[in-house]
Amino acid sequence: MDQNELKRAVAQAALAYVPEGQIIGVGTGSTANFFIEGLASIRDRIRGAVASSEASAQRLRVHGIPLFDLNDVEGLSVYVDGADEVDGGLCMIKGGGAALTREKIVAAASSKFVCICDASKRVDVLGRFPLPVEVIPMARELVARGLAELGGRPKVREGVITDNGNVIIDVHGLSITAPAELEARINNMPGVVTNGIFALRPADVLLLGSESGVQTLSLR
Ligand code: A5P
Repeated sequence: MDQNELKRAVAQAALAYVPEGQIIGVGTGSTANFFIEGLASIRDRIRGAVASSEASAQRLRVHGIPLFDLNDVEGLSVYVDGADEVDGGLCMIKGGGAALTREKIVAAASSKFVCICDASKRVDVLGRFPLPVEVIPMARELVARGLAELGGRPKVREGVITDNGNVIIDVHGLSITAPAELEARINNMPGVVTNGIFALRPADVLLLGSESGVQTLSLR
């Protein structure tokens, strides 16, 4: 099975977590795109979706799935999204697609986070994937210096402006042994909008696609 088939399989498995008649949170990226395809096949069973990026909103629109503004809904029962890395505690690195801030917001508004990944994303310690940090443009160099002091190698992502009008700094070379602490510490730097560690609010369920099928991990 190639990686896309694994992504499609986990996306399909996530449909079982979609409750009838509700508005659900939808993530961003290639795995989430397979989920949107699957959602289109059951669109009559849901009220609609809140998207975590302009790109996903556009895809949902194309599939005729009604879109809601997060400010107009009280809360979401479930959020389904991919990740760039996930550890055994279901903490994640996200933001490879630069949508980390809206992803964190929609995740925070959701009762259950279902993470969908192929097995290549599963790691023991987060940090092999460069950690994305969304930064207000005027603070770019200040934040980069602060991130270097933490022991990482910050690199501004060239040519990328987020949906919120900010820049992304990718931090290479971190070994994230205390993800919740580092998430809070980086988020405390003036100029940082948020960083791609999802540990303060990790996933509730991980659907991991491998050659032997879709494995379900749930810690809560
Ligand atoms: C988007 O900003 C990311 O957080 C994605 O969820 C992550 O990059 C996973 O993407 P793929 O499903 O394309 O691997």
